[in-house]
Amino acid sequence: MDSVLWQEREGTLTERPNQRTFAFLKPDTVKNRLVGEVLSRLERKGFTFKELRLHQITHKEAESLYNVHKGKPFFQELVDHVTSGPVVLMVLQAPNAVETLRKVIGATNPLTAEPGTIRGDLSVSITANVIHASDTAENAKRESSIFSLDAP
Ligand code: CMP
Repeated sequence: MDSVLWQEREGTLTERPNQRTFAFLKPDTVKNRLVGEVLSRLERKGFTFKELRLHQITHKEAESLYNVHKGKPFFQELVDHVTSGPVVLMVLQAPNAVETLRKVIGATNPLTAEPGTIRGDLSVSITANVIHASDTAENAKRESSIFSLDAP
């Protein structure tokens, strides 16, 4: 069962009315001229942009951002991709923003991302998968601080 449904059923769901989270549109999204499409989907869902900035990620920033993946076979390809061109950094606000955004984005692998999700509709690559979003509030704080942004 989906974790939100489970928490609802158990009465343990914590509502976070104005939660903030961190995300960025990857270089493939800028190159493929999909920035407007993705931002539009996020706006229509109800997210408020608290920060929005074009940025060229450095190798140092990329290695810090993805430090949990260091040593994995896809690490270098991932770092090379996110440093290959400009990205769009953002801090988004919505009720339960962290979990809501992860649902709107869909699974990491476009092969398993459901149609209707951003990755399910707009990507066929696991590395160039349109958008990254923090998976917890703690990571939103850590990841946003790499770019001198303040998510939560
Ligand atoms: P992202 O949300 O940016 O977080 C880590 C990224 O690693 C992920 O999206 C993918 O783009 C990338 N990645 C590449 N290969 C894999 C893999 N096998 N498993 C998980 N993530 C992968």
